[in-house]
Amino acid sequence: MAPQAILVAGATGFQGSAVAQRLLSSGKSVHALVRNPSKPSALALQKLGATLFQGDFDSVPSILAAAHGCDGLFILTSPTMPSASEVTHVENIISAAKTAGIKICVFSCVARAEAFETGFKEIYARNEFLTGYWRAKARIQEIVQEAGFESWTILQPAWLMTNWVAPNSVGCWGEELKKKRVLINAYAENTIVDLTDGEDIATFAWVFFDKEKGWEGMEGKLVKVASEGLTISEIAKAMTDVGGVEVGVKFREMGEIEHLRPVHPIVATQWWQRVDGTMVDFKEVKSYGLKLTPFKAFLERNKPALLEALGAEK
Ligand SMILES: NC(=O)c1ccc[n+]([C@@H]2O[C@H](COP(=O)([O-])OP(=O)(O)OC[C@H]3O[C@@H](n4cnc5c(N)ncnc54)[C@H](OP(=O)(O)O)[C@@H]3O)[C@@H](O)[C@H]2O)c1
Repeated sequence: MAPQAILVAGATGFQGSAVAQRLLSSGKSVHALVRNPSKPSALALQKLGATLFQGDFDSVPSILAAAHGCDGLFILTSPTMPSASEVTHVENIISAAKTAGIKICVFSCVARAEAFETGFKEIYARNEFLTGYWRAKARIQEIVQEAGFESWTILQPAWLMTNWVAPNSVGCWGEELKKKRVLINAYAENTIVDLTDGEDIATFAWVFFDKEKGWEGMEGKLVKVASEGLTISEIAKAMTDVGGVEVGVKFREMGEIEHLRPVHPIVATQWWQRVDGTMVDFKEVKSYGLKLTPFKAFLERNKPALLEALGAEK
């Protein structure tokens, strides 16, 4: 039977809020685990009918209080320093969920985490933070797979579209995007960047929880979610079209990339996309028959945040 009450861990974030809102709009009860109940995104969920539970992924009792009465679980965690803490966070969430008797779990991870050790570890060899990041994500996937849930799926976003709008744009593109409207990057001109909207993660999670058409294809699987793949110049063109101001691209020199890869997570990850990457099979994504959000539609929906990223607020 489809779960009726879902514990959403990470409910105040981009993906978690989208998931919670989608579940609420389809008539589910949502227990939102939040660190700060007065955060605007927490209050917005409360207004839509979610029950807020103040807690932290470090505290099993706080997660357990939120898990009681739930039969479904959505997990979204954040990378940590040291990276092992993210693994502990997921162990804590799962331990509380199992104690509360939750049987159905959706976890949002990252595309190709399972391929890190055998597939692309060497590409990140000199970057300690990202080695820890990927190792943690791969381990967490195994923990979810081995947890003994009656039913589970692992959704894998590729490059989150939120990287190109405020507030995340600053961390991804530095001040240059806001001040000079240029995407300085380590991709090649022909690198395809697979793009994911958090709303599409919500669509996949909702279909799985609601046992709607296509959910069986996700059962016990790693499911990549992305709507399209664009080059960085196509991304800049979409930002220009929607933002109404010219956005340029600048490709970093090879020497600069080599110098920055060990210390600059964004450069290292863009390089990974250039030589290996998320490898989304769009035919497979389409096989679920779900309507996904093109990048331009995401930008239209988030136009104030795009304008803020471009220093072009009205
Ligand atoms: N950027 C990309 O292109 C990309 C691609 C694929 C996968 N990912 C992965 O996607 C995730 C980011 O997704 P997002 O942007 O939707 O996340 P987000 O907006 O940063 O949300 C993170 C959520 O986790 C909560 N949280 C973090 N630590 C917590 C703790 N100790 N206790 C309780 N709650 C805690 C945050 O709460 P607060 O609101 O209190 O902070 C927030 O609700 C990361 O795990 C990242 O590795 C990113």
